Amino acid sequence: MTVSFTFTPGKTSGAARTGEIRMPRGVIRTPAFMPVGTAATVKAMYPDQVKALGADVVLGNTYHLMLRPGAERVAALGGLHKFMNWPYPILTDSGGFQVMSLAQLRKIDENGVTFQSHLDGSTHVLTPERSIEIQGLLGSDIQMQLDECVKLPCEEVVAEKAMQLSLRWAERCKVAFGTQPERALFGIVQGGEVPRLRIESARELADMGLDGYAIGGLAVGEPQHVMLAMIETVMPHLPAGKPRYLMGVGTPDDIVEAVRRGIDMFDCVMPTRAGRHGLAYTRFGRINLRNACHAEDSRPLDPDSKCPASNTYSRAYLHHLVKAGEILGMMLLTWNNLAYYQDLMSGLRRAIADDRLDDFIAETKAGWARGEK
Ligand code: GUN
Repeated sequence: MTVSFTFTPGKTSGAARTGEIRMPRGVIRTPAFMPVGTAATVKAMYPDQVKALGADVVLGNTYHLMLRPGAERVAALGGLHKFMNWPYPILTDSGGFQVMSLAQLRKIDENGVTFQSHLDGSTHVLTPERSIEIQGLLGSDIQMQLDECVKLPCEEVVAEKAMQLSLRWAERCKVAFGTQPERALFGIVQGGEVPRLRIESARELADMGLDGYAIGGLAVGEPQHVMLAMIETVMPHLPAGKPRYLMGVGTPDDIVEAVRRGIDMFDCVMPTRAGRHGLAYTRFGRINLRNACHAEDSRPLDPDSKCPASNTYSRAYLHHLVKAGEILGMMLLTWNNLAYYQDLMSGLRRAIADDRLDDFIAETKAGWARGEK
């Protein structure tokens, strides 16, 4: 018997909750952090390592994969899971957001978005139907609607237009997706910084009866308090029985604050990108390994971590690798950072299950503030 896509909420602590998302390729324990595997790879990591850290799902990108190597090619090779040797759940973003941030000469109209590839300048059209077709060809387990995300701050009329277009595109994605009980289609709440628009977006999407709901258009330059206020505005209008996903977020502090407000899923390039730029996330806060103060420091990043990247190699060695531009420096820091993010998520899940989330968050923040001295 095949497993249908289901979400089962678990324990609660305040507005936060644990849960389990089930699908044929596995179970996602929530709150979950999804490492970003844009181009069919979580950069600088082996898939086995990603899984061993506790990641249940990774994110892939329609935009990148449609341009290179091409969705039809991935499908002919057996789908994205096989292609990248990740047999567990994959969520794919729809492409709209990446077109806006990466492509050149983009043009949005009712039909979709026309853009030029950032790789070779070739022209492409992404419609809601084509985005769902591509995500299907990739074999994505959780597919995202095509949406339009505006940069903040922006005028209310601009945010409203993008939100309404995103609602119409959600309907078209739903029709294109059809009935696929083993897979999921998530809607994306837009509406800028305007509570009225955010509420309308959430209500209309909820009425469509989708499999999950994302909050998009945040962490796009606004202060954290604005992002948190928007989450609080939207949350009561999303069905409690469906997963809630905050897209593109964030720092460890953003994540704990969003979990406190009821978010179940996150993705962000931060731990992987920072790892390639000499930055380590730890229980003691963020450490910049480029800094000369680490040149003769024989301590590991965190002797109490289970991750070999964190508990074995000296800061002096990591400093050397980063300064010398060595590939191993990027690999070790990415490994450390994803280990830290996954440990944080498992700590959050345990704290919710024990109904002591506020205490856990206070202790976690005290660790970041205290540093190690
Ligand atoms: N990733 C981060 N924010 C967004 C958003 O608003 N829309 C989409 N599709 N992806 C995102």
